[in-house]
Amino acid sequence: MSAAQKVPVVVLGAGVVGLTTALRIQTEGKYDVAIVAETLPTDPKSIRYTSQWAGAHHVYSGTDPTTFQHKLELETFKKLWEMSAPGSDSEECFLRIEETEYFHEVSSAETTPLKDMPNFKVLPQESLVPGAKSGATFQTVCIDSPVYLNYLLSQFLAKGGKIARGSLQHIHQIIEGGANLFNATLGPSGLPPAAVLNCTGLGARFLGGVEDKSVYPLRGQTVLVRAPWVRFGRTLYVDGTGAFTYIIPRRSGDVVVGGTRGRDDWHAEPRPETTRDILERGLALCPELAPAEVRAQRAPVVEDVLPIIAGEGCGLRPCREGGVRIETEWTEGVGKRGKVPVIHNYGHGGAGFQASWATADIALQLLEEALASLE
Ligand SMILES: Cc1cc2nc3c(=O)[nH]c(=O)nc-3n(C[C@H](O)[C@H](O)[C@H](O)COP(=O)(O)OP(=O)(O)OC[C@H]3O[C@@H](n4cnc5c(N)ncnc54)[C@H](O)[C@@H]3O)c2cc1C
Ligand SMILES: *[C@@H]1O[C@H](CO)[C@@H](O)[C@H](O)[C@H]1NC(C)=O
Ligand SMILES: *[C@@H]1O[C@H](CO)[C@@H](O)[C@H](O)[C@H]1NC(C)=O
Repeated sequence: MSAAQKVPVVVLGAGVVGLTTALRIQTEGKYDVAIVAETLPTDPKSIRYTSQWAGAHHVYSGTDPTTFQHKLELETFKKLWEMSAPGSDSEECFLRIEETEYFHEVSSAETTPLKDMPNFKVLPQESLVPGAKSGATFQTVCIDSPVYLNYLLSQFLAKGGKIARGSLQHIHQIIEGGANLFNATLGPSGLPPAAVLNCTGLGARFLGGVEDKSVYPLRGQTVLVRAPWVRFGRTLYVDGTGAFTYIIPRRSGDVVVGGTRGRDDWHAEPRPETTRDILERGLALCPELAPAEVRAQRAPVVEDVLPIIAGEGCGLRPCREGGVRIETEWTEGVGKRGKVPVIHNYGHGGAGFQASWATADIALQLLEEALASLE
């Protein structure tokens, strides 16, 4: 099929959700996908772009294996596990690790859907850390988020995908103007699109024509520690609210220490007292964060970790009341055009990476159904 015959489609947003969705659709070969986004993976980190701040690991976010969210995460794990296989092209974006989860309830280790993860084992009571009532270990993947986002973008471009930097005020702008509005060099990919995919994360709260006020930020602050000797992950759930402390190692040798969950907290910079609190909790859960020379002498303290801090930051998880939204909405008569589908894929909260591939599959399916219904 020549480029001219392909169907132009616009994906709004270049976070993990937009990039995965765009790559999935472009890979089909019959669409000319243009990503339109205000921020791109190659940009400096910004509070307006959550994906760069994610840990990220794949650990099921819920405890009920019958939910839609769980199905998304289950499907996506299969793909991420494949992508992280030794010898795969994308291997360098990942680190396969042994993860230990410490729960605040006795029954959790027996009932968690994590029991389906590779090498799952319930921990004996005597090996629990203070504060934990039960625990389990299993294998999973950690994702070096900035590296992975750039990998997705490069795959998308290599398959002929196009990008245009731009900030949209209203969805109608892209329906009538196409991606050419923001980048005049895109050729047929820049024509008014047959469909728009809305992967704007927290941006959906503000985007004219969408303005979904059920989208809200759940702020997460983290510290990056240079500790290449830590090659395992740990999480301790403090109570039933989801509050936790976690350790996520990256292939690069950096270790992400978290976390916090601040609902409707928009503060754009790390708070120093929170950094201190994260390090205290992180060190209690994982004394191995401190250099071995220190641990050989005495119990480590926060001061031992300060010299190996490689960065700190915070991001706004794009949460949504009712969970992720993946559905088709129709516009009609915008710029004298007929019906044009807008397919929403946003509101991924704290699980955008671990649900990314499954939601991209659903978005593609909705796109095909919407376009077929117009024929
Ligand atoms: C500290 C922390 C730890 C996390 N850990 C994990 C983890 O371990 N595992 C996991 O799965 N998830 C994790 N997450 C959650 C994950 O980061 C998010 O779910 C995910 O990044 C959401 O991606 P997104 O593509 O929807 O949004 P974003 O990454 O925010 O991307 C939104 C895109 O839309 C664009 N945009 C928005 N509005 C407009 C507009 N009007 N016009 C043009 N462009 C627009 C933006 O520029 C950007 O390109 C974590 C998050 C944080 C903060
Ligand atoms: C416009 O598109 C070209 C490729 O067609 C790309 O190289 C360039 O980075 C894009 N520019 C912007 C500002 O998006
Ligand atoms: C995109 O989704 C957001 C919710 O994240 C919503 O507010 C916005 O209106 C949507 N944009 C369009 C153009 O449909």
